[in-house]
Amino acid sequence: MRIVERNLEFGKSKTANVNFTACWHIGHQAMHEEGLDLMLKGFKKKKEPWVQMGDVIEAIMPYDPRFAVDEHKVTLNNEIECATDKVSMAAETCWGILVGNHEAKASRQVGDITETICNGVKRGTGVQIEHLSNTCFMDIVCPDGSSKGFFAHGAMTANYRSGDAGKIEENRKTKLRNYLRKFEADLKGIAHGHREIIAEPMDEEKLGVRGDKSKRRPVAVIEPWCFAAPSMFKVYDEGASMGNYAEMQLYDPTDLGWIQVVYERDGYIPCIRLMLEDGSVKKEIVPRIVS
Ligand SMILES: [Fe+2]
Repeated sequence: MRIVERNLEFGKSKTANVNFTACWHIGHQAMHEEGLDLMLKGFKKKKEPWVQMGDVIEAIMPYDPRFAVDEHKVTLNNEIECATDKVSMAAETCWGILVGNHEAKASRQVGDITETICNGVKRGTGVQIEHLSNTCFMDIVCPDGSSKGFFAHGAMTANYRSGDAGKIEENRKTKLRNYLRKFEADLKGIAHGHREIIAEPMDEEKLGVRGDKSKRRPVAVIEPWCFAAPSMFKVYDEGASMGNYAEMQLYDPTDLGWIQVVYERDGYIPCIRLMLEDGSVKKEIVPRIVS
């Protein structure tokens, strides 16, 4: 576990964004390289902070029972080199890299893969990327307050199929909240499942003082924000001669993209967005306000 602090720069803006991306699976034939490049160029251009939440590379080698000739076409060295190049594209604003299960398993054979990537970025760009381990508490310091985050790659999946679409979505949110229930933070995020889930908090409005004015505003009272980040891995790949493991099991199609968390200057989170690979906003989830 790591405990870190990050300063979120606002300039003169009322809000600032922090981005969470995961499951790139570099080296697998289904990795979505164009989407990944577009996303990283966007982080660099907008100077927005971002966290890589694990499974940066595929890291499945021929001795691994999961190895498939059609899916794993490059060597581990190539994967690490490619991951180093990708992280370097937006290294200046990277807040760190979490360890995914793919890195963790292969690291037992070859040493710490996440550290190798961080060291490679440092050699090429001079920027030290922080190795965030498997789990990380992050104090996000804003100009007028701060917000606590808890982030991990995790191991949760939520492949529900029973019930209507609304019930399935509610079940996913409940599973995510329960999975993260024992960790205390204002925002809790995981990855691994390749499917975006955004579980909004239930907020109650209260009268308080901001500066020299009284103001009614929402205060999170029941549940904090939870999210699961989507991937940059194409489950259904038009170019693949043989479907990958997910396609064989007819997994539900998922969006390719990332999670964008919006902060106000006092550390309050007014919304979380599902961003698609092309940089568009697919959904913007706001707290449920009880007034
Ligand atoms: Fe994973």
